[in-house]
Amino acid sequence: VKRFPGDLLGIGSLQRADVERLLARAADHKKALAEGRRSTTLAGAVVGTLFFEDSTRTRSSFDFAARALGADVFSWSASGSSLSKGESLLDTARNIDALGVRAMVIRHSSTGAPHLVARHVRAAVVNAGDGTNEHPSQALLDAFTLVQRLGDLSGKRIVIAGDIVHSRVARSNARCLSLLGAQVVFCGPPTLLPPGMAALGCQVSYDFDQALEGADAVMMLRVQLERMNQAMFPSAREYARLFGLNPARAARLAPQVPVLHPGPMNRGVEITSEVADGPRSAILQQVENGVPMRMAILEACAA
Ligand code: CP
Repeated sequence: VKRFPGDLLGIGSLQRADVERLLARAADHKKALAEGRRSTTLAGAVVGTLFFEDSTRTRSSFDFAARALGADVFSWSASGSSLSKGESLLDTARNIDALGVRAMVIRHSSTGAPHLVARHVRAAVVNAGDGTNEHPSQALLDAFTLVQRLGDLSGKRIVIAGDIVHSRVARSNARCLSLLGAQVVFCGPPTLLPPGMAALGCQVSYDFDQALEGADAVMMLRVQLERMNQAMFPSAREYARLFGLNPARAARLAPQVPVLHPGPMNRGVEITSEVADGPRSAILQQVENGVPMRMAILEACAA
């Protein structure tokens, strides 16, 4: 398997210096985009986006990022493909590789799917989310957003709250923010926050109000009902009462503390609309930062 910068399969394959270089390049790209300067780094290349699972933000921002680097984009979706005739993941990926894509951005519901593909194709493989394992480009754009809001992240207390057990975003963020020296605190009900998560070097709390004390930033996670095959909390209302970020809880945070959410949101469950659309929300800044960060990733892996 090619490792970063040949592929980006997970934050686990990055060193702190790699993350810092990507943050610096994303800042360059963000400035260039704001000034209307075009890049031709990937001119003549085709970037394939292979989404075996639905997406709004990740797919579109990889698409925007590839085009902003001068590449053409080949957009493949499971629906309407020969998967319905029984074609395998590997055959699908090998065929798209044979068409001549320079990079493949892959999202799949199974952990390890992009890693498997990476062993069998020439193209650079970028993991756009695999099962509950990793979502490295999300963590990198989150780190970019946090650095813009807070500066140096060393020693900063970042609370990541909600459905940790099903969250690839939580795992990638824990690794990425720890590399940058932040103290990550995972918070959620015990059914959604198994004890093994502390092995990622994070503190664990089952009391949201206590976890929020002294927080420098708060990242709320979506309750992933589609990955639950049994009830993991009594009701959405009970969950919102104990673990939802509402105006009363947000008011106890210091004024400069940003609130993040990778999206999509369950408004009224893990976060209220007042907070999601309020002055501390960095949620659309995260989306905006997805384009320059994904430009930095594609450039590192495929230029
Ligand atoms: N944050 C995120 O991965 O969103 P999408 O599922 O819309 O890509």
